Amino acid sequence: MNQRSLVVVSAGLSQPSSTRLLADQLSAAVVTEAGGHGLSLDVRVVELRDLAHDIANHLLTGFPPADLKEALDAVAAADGVIAVTPIFTAGYSGLFKSFFDVLDKDALTDKPVLIAATAGTARHSLALEHALRPLFAYLRAVVVPTAVFAASDDWGSDSVEGPLRSRIDRAATELTREMERRDPVSVTDPFALTMSFEDLLKN
Ligand SMILES: Cc1cc2nc3c(=O)[nH]c(=O)nc-3n(C[C@H](O)[C@H](O)[C@H](O)COP(=O)(O)O)c2cc1C
Repeated sequence: MNQRSLVVVSAGLSQPSSTRLLADQLSAAVVTEAGGHGLSLDVRVVELRDLAHDIANHLLTGFPPADLKEALDAVAAADGVIAVTPIFTAGYSGLFKSFFDVLDKDALTDKPVLIAATAGTARHSLALEHALRPLFAYLRAVVVPTAVFAASDDWGSDSVEGPLRSRIDRAATELTREMERRDPVSVTDPFALTMSFEDLLKN
């Protein structure tokens, strides 16, 4: 099986979090879909709630604390990203935006991204299209066509297996297709020695 890495960014604040629940359902669907295409996924979840102070410190100092740096590096090295935010005041949450503000502006270039959101009401579902999609377009990510929105009503027993389920599955298929058609991401270390130490001494 070919190996790929999937990073799931979840910006929910509640515990338990409906945003995390949606993120988990999306990643499970992508793992299943990818498995059917001969891809084995290494999944890493980045809970922004746990990094909130680090993100604020990075914004203030310009330097990422270790845990945040590790999360930012994981996103940059991922073959695919699932990004899920709660809707706050008709848009993405401030924490979600701040994480992508401190991410290197080239880190998502040509990277397949699945966008999703949770909210109290379905009235704000277009926030995915007028807020999240432009953000990731600016970062030159390849955002899959299906964006997944789950309002409180979607978590009712019928709809979890109905419309929400089919949106999750369709988005998972689209993300898998984009990951499959690309070579695995290889991150080069700018400080790595490109020649032997012996050769280096000769120059
Ligand atoms: C500060 C704040 C603002 C919110 N604004 C909206 C909103 O504009 N529209 C909406 O539908 N829900 C809104 N909500 C509800 C959240 O989007 C919803 O409860 C979300 O699923 C919470 O995610 P979590 O359980 O992962 O924390 C708001 C919640 C908070 C706390």
